[in-house]
Amino acid sequence: MREKLPELTAVYHSILPLVSLVTLTDTVVSPYPVSDINIKAYPPGGGTLGLHYDTNGITVLLFLTTNSEAPLRMQVQRSHPSKKDSWVENRKIYAKKGALLIMQGRKVLHDSEPTVNEQKLSVVYNYYERHDTYRHEDFDNFVYYGRPPKTLGDNARGEDRP
Ligand SMILES: [Fe+2]
Repeated sequence: MREKLPELTAVYHSILPLVSLVTLTDTVVSPYPVSDINIKAYPPGGGTLGLHYDTNGITVLLFLTTNSEAPLRMQVQRSHPSKKDSWVENRKIYAKKGALLIMQGRKVLHDSEPTVNEQKLSVVYNYYERHDTYRHEDFDNFVYYGRPPKTLGDNARGEDRP
């Protein structure tokens, strides 16, 4: 992928200051080269991704297709000092070719509604905060090489993956 599409790596590094500004974090690129950039393909007829939090702190999606179905669904935790209780804001984001979506994926529960007739393609850029680049040691071995985890903690989480 890197040899055929060097632009994807260039974008990954060049938007880092923007991602840092928008998220108000000290954003860093992934220290895990196997999982820094993915392309996620959702085929027509049920391509989906289950409800999950991301393992990495910040995920940026670069949409490669415009879709009228299969939105990213997000459950955003909200609170305000004027309100007694917190609440959950449900958002549906439809892919628009060329658009960037910046998400703090550890804080927002999300999934992708299944496709029906369309194909959906997204580039997934994984970032971390400088002070917290935690990633479970078995995660990439399991996701990318199918090696069974030696240990899997109770807080194991999913993540966008190819
Ligand atoms: Fe995700």
